[in-house]
Amino acid sequence: MDECNMRLFIAIDLPENVKEYFREIQGRLPNAKLSKTHDFHCTLKFLGACEKQRKEKIEALLSSVPFQPFESQLTQIGAFGNKKPPRVIWVGMEAPPSLSETAREIENGAAKLGFEKEGRFIPHITLARVKEIEDPQSFSEALSKITIEPMHFRVTHFYLFESQLSPKGAIHTRLAQFP
Ligand code: 2AM
Repeated sequence: MDECNMRLFIAIDLPENVKEYFREIQGRLPNAKLSKTHDFHCTLKFLGACEKQRKEKIEALLSSVPFQPFESQLTQIGAFGNKKPPRVIWVGMEAPPSLSETAREIENGAAKLGFEKEGRFIPHITLARVKEIEDPQSFSEALSKITIEPMHFRVTHFYLFESQLSPKGAIHTRLAQFP
């Protein structure tokens, strides 16, 4: 077994103007102890630790899954965590059924390689993770008042990313582009 483990995930990257907009939105989030992300992407699949041998198989899988370029736009701001308080603050993006198909094929192929299955694919871009909230009710109310501009962008590729954990937050590096 190769010991050279990398922490990997598969995601759609976003245009710089959209990322710039997210930084602006982060500055307008209601008051709470938040861990704001420095990088923005729409995760298709989080793999976690992966050794060289399986990385090559993942790359082969990613080369073979169906993918159709599409036009997207930002939808709304939201929060994951059905029970209060919310855990993750995100912005939704429009995606065609073909993207869910891509995510499903990746999920199934990765499961055959021994990666854990996740839940349903919900296209979103994480802005912040919640550490602590004093008043979840007023946080949710203030959050719902943030209007998201329906910025348009075209998605032509997805990427295999490496995530390196550091005290300053994760550093993400594109390793390969697909298709
Ligand atoms: P999220 O932002 O949609 O929550 C890289 O770590 C990306 O993988 C994160 O942006 C995160 O997506 C996603 N991810 C999914 N499950 C994860 C997990 N268990 N640990 C870390 N990241 C995970």
